[in-house]
Amino acid sequence: MGKGRRNMSVARTFTLITGASNGIGEALAENCARRGDNVLLVALPEPKLEKATKALTERYPNQTFYCLGKDLMQKESPQEIYDWCKDNGYIVDKLMNNAGLGNSGAFESKSAQFYYGQMQLNMVNLVMLTHIFLQDLKSLPKSYILNVSSMAAFYDIPYKGIYSASKSFVYSFSRSLRKELEATNVGVTVLCPAAVLTNSDVLARNEQMGFFSKLTQARPEEVAEYTINRMLSGKAVAIPKAVPRFYKALGRIIPYNLKMRILAKQFVKQKQ
Ligand SMILES: NC(=O)c1ccc[n+]([C@@H]2O[C@H](COP(=O)([O-])OP(=O)(O)OC[C@H]3O[C@@H](n4cnc5c(N)ncnc54)[C@H](OP(=O)(O)O)[C@@H]3O)[C@@H](O)[C@H]2O)c1
Repeated sequence: MGKGRRNMSVARTFTLITGASNGIGEALAENCARRGDNVLLVALPEPKLEKATKALTERYPNQTFYCLGKDLMQKESPQEIYDWCKDNGYIVDKLMNNAGLGNSGAFESKSAQFYYGQMQLNMVNLVMLTHIFLQDLKSLPKSYILNVSSMAAFYDIPYKGIYSASKSFVYSFSRSLRKELEATNVGVTVLCPAAVLTNSDVLARNEQMGFFSKLTQARPEEVAEYTINRMLSGKAVAIPKAVPRFYKALGRIIPYNLKMRILAKQFVKQKQ
């Protein structure tokens, strides 16, 4: 499903956000709009994507918002998103790779197909989108890539292993790419949030969290504000809120086996 007027003469730049119909992605879209950006919203082809786009159009009538429904678990989606931009003359100067999927429960409790899709979404298509847009981003006076990882990137998490591994991948890839691009006009920032109160799964999981984990919680709006400020000021990493930053530092001094016991106890409680 695609939406957006065909207009080859459009020369405005756009922020492209994946997973923009809900949660952090929707908050990033709203925050970018508030700062004056035109925004391309990409997410699953669900009515809420159109609804989020319409809401921005009504709130910011002088800017342009288009949406494209795509399943980023599908191999061909990055190319189709790029072609949509090219065909319509949308110039992307901020690429925000936000769409991602979590998991909980024992490794063998989910199908191989589930993990295949999760890895395709969280890692493969994030890399493909970055790769396909990079030449265009480099051709602009200033451009940005924001990749959404997680605090999970910093830990080996039992009962959440594919998710934490995928987010470590995003973190490592983003830091490496940033170094490669340091002499260019393309900034690369990686967002590593702790618990953000977004979808019903996160809210339910949050209920099961202990006191110290609950201290890390953030609202999507505050995550978006902090992250975009970090990105625009050229920072490599955005970890919203002081408590997660403190936990990350603490994680470096806690012995590995103890850390694993704490994490296993914490995450085994989560429903599958
Ligand atoms: N929430 C947290 O606690 C937390 C913490 C750390 C990191 N993160 C990361 O932050 C990112 C956003 O998380 P969130 O909690 O805001 O998620 P969310 O509320 O579930 O929203 C996910 C967004 O991605 C879209 N999406 C899901 N599967 C997709 C697919 N296959 N193809 C295209 N779009 C897809 C969703 O569309 P639909 O709504 O139509 O499904 C929605 O717009 C993820 O990468 C996540 O791993 C989240």
